[in-house]
Order: sequence, then C-alpha cells, then structure tokens
Amino acid sequence: MPVFDASVHNPRRVKAARTAQDDFARAVRAGLSRSPRELPSTYLYDAVGSALFEVITLLPEYGLSRADERLLRLWAQAMVQQLPRSLLVAELGSGSGRKTRWLLEALAARERLSYFPIDVSATALLKCRQELSELGAVSLVGLEASYLDGLQEVAARRRPGQSLLVLFLGSTIGNFSTPQAEHFLREIRRRQEPGDMLLIGTDLEKDVQTMLLAYADPTGVTAAFNLNLLARINRELGGDFKLSGFEHVVRYDAVGRRIEMHLRSRHRQTVSIPAANLVCQFREGETIWTETCHKFRIGELAGMAERTGYVPLARWVDQEWPFAESLWVAAPNADPNADP
Ligand SMILES: C[S@@+](CC[C@H](N)C(=O)[O-])C[C@H]1O[C@@H](n2cnc3c(N)ncnc32)[C@H](O)[C@@H]1O
Repeated sequence: MPVFDASVHNPRRVKAARTAQDDFARAVRAGLSRSPRELPSTYLYDAVGSALFEVITLLPEYGLSRADERLLRLWAQAMVQQLPRSLLVAELGSGSGRKTRWLLEALAARERLSYFPIDVSATALLKCRQELSELGAVSLVGLEASYLDGLQEVAARRRPGQSLLVLFLGSTIGNFSTPQAEHFLREIRRRQEPGDMLLIGTDLEKDVQTMLLAYADPTGVTAAFNLNLLARINRELGGDFKLSGFEHVVRYDAVGRRIEMHLRSRHRQTVSIPAANLVCQFREGETIWTETCHKFRIGELAGMAERTGYVPLARWVDQEWPFAESLWVAAPNADPNADP
C-alpha cells in the first residue's frame, strides 16, 4: 500500500498505479454499460478533482464544510475528554485534513499521537501533509488507499493498549446509499475493538433550495468538479468525451432524501473509451449519475449506530447549518459479522 513518502520511481508504486488504472477502466465500463448509467463518485477525486473540491469547501453556498469545521473547532476539547488515552487516529477520506487540525491540536496537547489520513487521492494527501506538518506532537503517515484497505493497515499497526479512533467527516457517509452505508459502518466496526471510537459527520436535511444550491453554485465550481470526471476518462483512458456536450444537473429525491449529481447529454452523441474497450451511444437528455449525498435526520443516527455495532456516546449539532458530529463507541457485545 503506497504511503506518500514513497519515491515516484518505486516499482511497487508503478504497479499500484497500473492496477488502479485497470480498476478505473473496469468501473467505467461497468457503470456506462448499465441503464441508467452511473460512475462511482470515488473517481471524481483525481488531482484536478481534489483541487476543485477544496474550492467547493470555500463556496458560500456549501455551508456543510464550515458547519463541520465549526463543530470541531468549538467542541474539540469536549470531544477529547470523551476519548481514551494512547490513541491511533485514522481518518477515512481525509481530503486536505484542514478541519481535522482542531481535534489533532486538542489531542496533541494531551499526548503524542499517530495520525493516519487515508485517501485515494495522492493530491489530497500531499495537501494534508502541508496543512498539518507543523503539529509537532503528531506523527503523520498518509496512506494512499481505499477506506477499508487503509483502515485494515492502520488496525494492523496498533500495539497492545492502544485504542483506535476513526474519523469519517464531511458527511462522506452520505455518498453511500442507506443499505450500503450501514454495511460500510459494520465493515469499519469489524476492523475495530470494543471500546474503540468513531467520530462521524452527517449533513442534516434542510430546505430544498439550500441543499440544491450547495451542489449547483452559480460560479460553476461544482459543475467543473462533476465534468472533470469525463475529462479524467479522456486523460487516463483515452476517451473522447466532448465536455461541452454534457451539462451538470442536480436533483433532490425527497423520498430517498438525497441530492443526486448527474451529467446530462445535451444531444445524441457517440463516445469511445479505448482503455475500457467501450463505445457508448448517448441519447439527448440521457444522464450519467455521478454522486449521491444523502441528507440525514437527527432521529435516525442513534439507530444507525446501534444497528452497526456502536453505542452513541455524544453528539454536537451546528445551529447555523444543520449538521451533526456524532461520537460512537464500538459496542462490547456487537456481532460485527452479522449483516441483516
Ligand atoms: C467529500 S470529500 C471529503 C474530504 C474531507 N473529509 C472533508 O470533509 O472535507 C471525500 C474524500 O474521500 C476521498 N475518497 C473518495 N472515495 C474514496 C475511497 N473509496 N477510499 C478512500 N478515499 C476516498 C476523496 O479523495 C476525498 O478526499
């Protein structure tokens, strides 16, 4: 598994990059051959996508990141008081780690600690190292890996007496469908020991216009973030998508309580993607579903914890932009292998 200090000439790194490219080609082939068409949101985050996501977090319309950061800044001390000593901290999909600084600073005032940001994006991990490098009492090891592979690696490094705190911030859990999210939480729990902790951020349901605008900003940054997925297919898989032939579309599904991002074909067109061995005919108006952002209700969080092997311990809710930070403890009597 690549750690981002590895040399770019490292043959293991080259092999890992080749495997990642093959996985990308397979995912594109599978997703675009399906009806309706879809692409996994994970692939939104190449170097360009990660940079655009950082800009999104600064947009006035995207209140989610500021709410998450406000809670971490205001309540870091209270959070630390609930946490055991001798901690390993793993953050799933860390991005730049900018918000995590508040919690790491509060923890580092108490003891030295190891922090493992886990992200598929090498660019995000580099940014994370720049952002957090001067936190002296924190030893930072970035893992360029998928969430669960990275977490497995961190769990394997724990020494007797250490506890594992997993951070899953930014409401990234909302990118999963409800059944997938619970399955994923059980998989996290399976990699933890009883008494370990999970701090999870969830964006809460709010008025529809506010939610839509957060993903359809008038500056067009989120549109560029979405369209970059087609540009990435062109760059990495030799595709010939004409970006002007597609538009960014955002919908709210009130029943599923989720924002959906799509790319809609403006007219009939044919696209070929040689590395995925694929030629696609798009009808006018046909869409590719690229991201889901589930919006949670405060009342459903405790049940989610209990069904996935955790006990809810504490919760902090932002008053300005409804968003919840929940601290759960891994239950002693959980059966994390059971998936209903
Ligand atoms: C919505 S962003 C959130 C970033 C940061 N946690 C925040 O709250 O601002 C999701 C992050 O997860 C990373 N990511 C997406 N899919 C992933 C996967 N399957 N495994 C690991 N990281 C992933 C992306 O590169 C991105 O940095």
